Amino acid sequence: MTLSPPLAARWEALMASLRRIADLHPDALLASSMGVEDTLLIHAVAQLPRPLGVFMLDTGRLHAETLAMVDVVRARYGIEVRVMHPDPDAVRAHVAAHGEFAFYESVELRKACCGIRKVEPLRRALAGRTAWITGQRREQSVTRVELPDAQWDDTFGLQKFNPLALWSADEVWDVVRALDVPYNPLHDRGYPSIGCEPCTRAVRPGEDPRAGRWWWEQRDSRECGLHAGNLRTSGQPGVRPRDPIPTDTTETSTS
Ligand code: ADX
Ligand code: SF4
Repeated sequence: MTLSPPLAARWEALMASLRRIADLHPDALLASSMGVEDTLLIHAVAQLPRPLGVFMLDTGRLHAETLAMVDVVRARYGIEVRVMHPDPDAVRAHVAAHGEFAFYESVELRKACCGIRKVEPLRRALAGRTAWITGQRREQSVTRVELPDAQWDDTFGLQKFNPLALWSADEVWDVVRALDVPYNPLHDRGYPSIGCEPCTRAVRPGEDPRAGRWWWEQRDSRECGLHAGNLRTSGQPGVRPRDPIPTDTTETSTS
């Protein structure tokens, strides 16, 4: 199947953005949760003259289907996804003090679990890098409605790119189907958004796509710390002015 002209334009713009990011930040890493946005981005970075690195944060609580996508990506693209694990001592101490399911008890305990299983491994993954790339989209959440395509990440101290920020879910799926991009089978079982197994449930047709993420919490607290900046309002101390994906004047790509 080929892309319709508007989708082909979207795809070309995405590829141009990624080429420019790779030119400026050859050490940039793509963060992949193995959700559909991320496998679409893996498909895209695999087309670059020199593919960027990809990592996944294995929290120890992911679905088997999500973990299995590492092998799917290797087989399809020859890309070795770097799998980051939490510090086992920190996990053990947290579970010993609060139990296996403490995240249901309070937002604080949930954030502590995310801090150990996601945020600290992310900090390690990004150490020494100048940029990272995510599959976040504005449409996904009330916390993401102002998401820029590029921003200074104050939390981790590097540039952050969100090249799908303006894409709709329909556009993502149309491109994935047209280009035969592999995707997490959980999406076909009612999971539009996929996180850790005990913190994600399937949603009913018509429900908010992120209704299944930390569903017992208020909508505006539902960020896990990977994207803490989304919970800040612009203009607060430490937030740099928007740094857009630089305009491509030469249309040359890296080799
Ligand atoms: S989350 O913060 O609420 O969990 P979400 O699932 O919407 O995030 O994913 C947004 C983006 O964050 C993904 O496109 C990906 O770039 C990154 N991300 C989320 N979870 C992971 C993970 N386990 N490993 C690597 N990147 C992740
Ligand atoms: Fe822990 Fe749930 Fe956060 Fe996963 S999403 S790290 S299980 S609180």
